[in-house]
Order: sequence, then C-alpha cells, then structure tokens
Amino acid sequence: MEVIIRPTYQEMSQAAAHEVAKVLNTKPNAVMGMATGSTPLGLYQELVRMHVEEALDFSQVTTFNLDEYVGLPVTHPQSYHHFMHEIFFRHINIPPQNIYIPSGTTSNYPAFCQWYEDSIQRCGGIDLQILGIGTDGHIAFNEPGSSLSSRTRLKTLAKQTIEDNSRFFEHPGEVPVYAITMGVGTILEAKEIILIANGANKAAAITAAIEGPITSMITASGLQLHPTAKVFLDHEAANQLSMREYYDWLEEKRPGAPR
Ligand code: PGA
Repeated sequence: MEVIIRPTYQEMSQAAAHEVAKVLNTKPNAVMGMATGSTPLGLYQELVRMHVEEALDFSQVTTFNLDEYVGLPVTHPQSYHHFMHEIFFRHINIPPQNIYIPSGTTSNYPAFCQWYEDSIQRCGGIDLQILGIGTDGHIAFNEPGSSLSSRTRLKTLAKQTIEDNSRFFEHPGEVPVYAITMGVGTILEAKEIILIANGANKAAAITAAIEGPITSMITASGLQLHPTAKVFLDHEAANQLSMREYYDWLEEKRPGAPR
C-alpha cells in the first residue's frame, strides 16, 4: 500500500483529486467507483472545480456507487442517490445513463445484486475505486466479519456504523439498519484503489488497516492484498501509524526513483 500523508483535509482531498484526474486524463471513458459520506466531500468539490476551471471531462465516464441504504427512496435527503446528485453529478457533465447506484427499494435484492455485479463486468470493470473508511474499519458497508471475497449483497449495519451515521438524520432511530453494498471481493477487483481518511477518529481504524494483520474484522485491511492501493490521509488520521517516518521517506524519494 502506498501511504500519502498531507497536513490538512483540504490538501489530502486535492492530492486524491489529482489522482482521479490522472486516470481520467489517461482514460477518458474510465469506470469509476464512487463513495459517499463526509470524507469525500472535499474530493468531489475539487473535481467539480477541475471540471469548471480546467475542463476536466466526465462525458464518457461511467460510475458505480459502493452502497445505498435499504428502504430510502431516491428522493430522501439522506439517500446516497440524493447525496451523489447534489454533491457531484449535477455539477459535472456525466450522462445520467452512465450513473449506477445500488437500489435501496428493489423488490428482489438477490437479483438486483447479481445485475449490479454483471453491470460492472459489462462495463469492463472498475478502473478507479474511491473509498472512505468507517471507525470500525469497514469499506463500503462491509462491516466486521464480512468475507474478504464477498460480493454485492444485502448487509446488516453494525451498531457502531448506525451510531456514526446518526449525525446525518434528525432522529437516531431513522438510520436504516440494512444496506446494499459492493463486497470486499468486488472492490478488490478494481484496477486502482484510493482510500481517503481524515480526522483523529479514523486514526485507529487506519492503523489497523495499514499496519495490522489482514482480517475480515477490519475489512479495509483487505486492501493489503491489492497490488496498487493508495491511502491518502491528513495528519490527524495518520497520527497512530508506527511507520510514519518510513512513509514520509518513501514519498520524499519517489520522484527520483528509477522508472
Ligand atoms: P464518513 O464515512 O466519510 O462519513 O466518515 C466513511 C465510511 O463509513 O466509509
């Protein structure tokens, strides 16, 4: 795993956005895996800025979102459909038919999940997957105990996640208990992966994911199996890493390394 540490949330977001732009400039019809939550807000803001000011083009891009709450209609302000539209899609030039987000209201979840997996394959697989991390170490809604080879499926959220996400809802009891989520196995098939994390409340999960053993108890640790995963952190999220100096050394020496 490559660990890239920046002093602030804004600088972390810009570094991650630069990575996304690099992929889009190399492959304009890239398939991107999208994440929701508060972490990627700065990244999406920066991509929108690049679209407006630097003509970063999304006209041939296809996106697949990681997850969606079960039971929330697409118009619900806390649905990930609504989030993605408001925060990102309506500000860029992506064709609506190229946007895939899991359905939280299908009448047949197993069939929908299979269709979602098939759709990713039909589009050629995910070129770049964006990820956040939960305080319990989850990626997407792959809670502790999720198989590292899991696929898109219905998942019961952990109490910790429901508590963490209750800040977005008016009443804590409104947080959905179930979600539809890509599996860890689905995510690990992405050609490139970037995980972003900021804030001291993510430091323990980040340390376990990067420096701990590979375990389904911290599904983000599964990224150690990916050949090129990159982790972008701000100082606070990096402050429990025991190999911190080593990551800084590697980054400092990278530009001069033989290619
Ligand atoms: P957050 O959520 O960005 O809102 O902290 C991250 C996650 O649960 O994956």
